[in-house]
Amino acid sequence: MDNLINKARHILELNWKDGFTIPTQKLYPFQWNWDSGFTSIGHSYFNLDYAMRELDSLFSGQWKNGMLPHIIFHSEKETTYFPNYDFWNANVNSGAPQKPKTSGITQPAVHGFVLENLLQKFPNNENLITFAKSIFPKIVNSHRFLYTYRDPEREGLMFIFHPWESGRDNSPIWDESLDRIVIDKNQLPNYERRDIKIAPTEERPTSYQYDRYVYLLELGKKYKYDEAGIFEESPFLIQDTLMNAVLIKSNQSLINIGQSLGLDVGELQEWQQQSTKCFKEKLWNETLQTFTVFDLRSKQAVPFKEIGAFVALFAEIPDSTQAKILNDYLWTLHQRGFYICPSFDIDHPLFDSKRYWRGPIWSQMNWMIYHGLNNYGFKNTAQIVKSDLIELVSQMGFYEYFESQKSVAQNLTKGYGGGSFSWTAACTLDLLI
Ligand code: GLC
Repeated sequence: MDNLINKARHILELNWKDGFTIPTQKLYPFQWNWDSGFTSIGHSYFNLDYAMRELDSLFSGQWKNGMLPHIIFHSEKETTYFPNYDFWNANVNSGAPQKPKTSGITQPAVHGFVLENLLQKFPNNENLITFAKSIFPKIVNSHRFLYTYRDPEREGLMFIFHPWESGRDNSPIWDESLDRIVIDKNQLPNYERRDIKIAPTEERPTSYQYDRYVYLLELGKKYKYDEAGIFEESPFLIQDTLMNAVLIKSNQSLINIGQSLGLDVGELQEWQQQSTKCFKEKLWNETLQTFTVFDLRSKQAVPFKEIGAFVALFAEIPDSTQAKILNDYLWTLHQRGFYICPSFDIDHPLFDSKRYWRGPIWSQMNWMIYHGLNNYGFKNTAQIVKSDLIELVSQMGFYEYFESQKSVAQNLTKGYGGGSFSWTAACTLDLLI
């Protein structure tokens, strides 16, 4: 165990770039939004100052409208990533900072619960309390952006207009929406992928998907990334389980923090009440017995079992019957010879245990689901979610994601995607300690 802790610490130090942490060398050489949240928790064990600076530098990229971008390009010289800051051209929006450069979309709003996690670990640290007071309004503002621009009909659920916002880039849940996009190669700007020069092609999204990612990026740019036109025109408009569950979890954390620091939480409480109710009622899928994402274009649930549903446990959204169903399902996967939690339905023909978000295991997901299962007292399953991740990391190293079928994994010596990965180090560390 000490050995794993030391290795994890080493990775966090290796990826620390004097003020923020990159997810991994080369493949992701900038600061990523939700990665930084988890990484901050990891840093706090050795250097609380790093943990705070991590969040501070992330919020240095926040837009005037409150949007917290999914990438902060602290260095304009780095060229191993596509799409880089110039392709995003975020400054079409007058509220985007000139420096640092940023992308034009967001990612899961983890920072509220991350801040609460730090405060729970160091409740009497004066520096942290001062920091919490200064960053609290910025985090609330990032939630306000989501409720203002991404929930125009005031339902209580926010939408995403790009799969990258969900954090689960190429999950099969987006396939049907992406299929609606007809690509005219003459209209799509020329671009060159960098990811497949660094990671194996069969572990990454396909070029069919990449064309559509670029199409949606261009659509965002056309509407300066926050205008009503996105809601009107985007063929991809989804109320996602993970995004909304994380938002609800962070709302609650901010309410708790605000109450203990004597800050106003009225607005948060209003959002929270509406969102929790709407999530539970609208996203529960009776047929599939799980939570599913909702497609605002087709006005239908997207009928797939996948990992976003389990994040609802982390946000304490399900009632006890729904929670038991989710727990029983995970337990069955464990009994069927899978590491839990695979990112997609293992019984579906689109399941691919190797390819990114179409089947593999992801550490930050295990971290959230572990806490979620514990919230409801499902200690045995929680324990497996934790020990599965630790086993994978011990055998294969701190990779970006891992094989989910045990029969396949036993013949492997490494994980998938990028190596020496920051959130894998941070989440494993937190679970171990
Ligand atoms: C990939 C993941 C996303 C993550 C990013 C950096 O795009 O899908 O969730 O934030 O890599 O690690």
